[in-house]
Amino acid sequence: MRVPMIAGNWKMNTTVGEAIELVNKMRQGLDQIDNVEKVLCPPFISLAAVKELIEGSSIKLGAQNIYFEEKGAYTGEISPLMLADLCEFVIIGHSERRQYFNETGEMIDKKVKAALKVGLKPILCIGERLEENEAGRTEEVLTKQLSSSSDRIYYFSGLILAYEPIWAIGTGRAATGEQANETIGFIRQYISKRYGKRVAQDVCILYGGSVTADNISEFINQPEIDGALVGGASLKADQFLRIVKQTSEIKGHLSEEG
Ligand code: 13P
Repeated sequence: MRVPMIAGNWKMNTTVGEAIELVNKMRQGLDQIDNVEKVLCPPFISLAAVKELIEGSSIKLGAQNIYFEEKGAYTGEISPLMLADLCEFVIIGHSERRQYFNETGEMIDKKVKAALKVGLKPILCIGERLEENEAGRTEEVLTKQLSSSSDRIYYFSGLILAYEPIWAIGTGRAATGEQANETIGFIRQYISKRYGKRVAQDVCILYGGSVTADNISEFINQPEIDGALVGGASLKADQFLRIVKQTSEIKGHLSEEG
């Protein structure tokens, strides 16, 4: 059975001091909530400080990006080996990286493999643009994003997927629970056809895009949606806590049964 997950993607927000302050505000509350995987993804420079603060708690740590080479002359990049010591998860292929930093399917595939190689769990993001959605091309776009990945089965057994429709990110215009459920159901079907039912049933698939404490229940109540990748609302301790709490109340029992 899949364990529900709420991951906070802080994006390029918070200085180290602000990151510490934010974690201090939510650490105790988050730690007390059972049956949900709680993941914080601060900027690289705050990973070490946050790691120290959450030591001994049930809160997990993730990075927002990775480079695929192990080490060498790649000025400014962070390698899988450097992250493996610091955190358990890493967001890969976020639409902002595809859009502003020209990350291609091929690069994203290399990053996922590099992360898995050192034991990091990738949170692989996929999603369609507004015009693609309006043209009824969502499934085609997602299929392309999913198929630019490796065809090895271990790949999908080791990662978390996040469906983030680009038109819903930071816009306040979230998908509806039904829309997101239907599309995530499609993603699961695709994985089932390609890798088998077992892999598809086990893969954790999150929804992301304008999730707040006021709409989280709409998503979590859907059978195909295993949790959320939260942007803006993860920067507010009370909002993030309310999101995790509702997830535990609605879906937490699933991890106990599993
Ligand atoms: P918002 O929750 O701010 O829309 O961001 C979603 C996102 O991109 C998470 O990765």
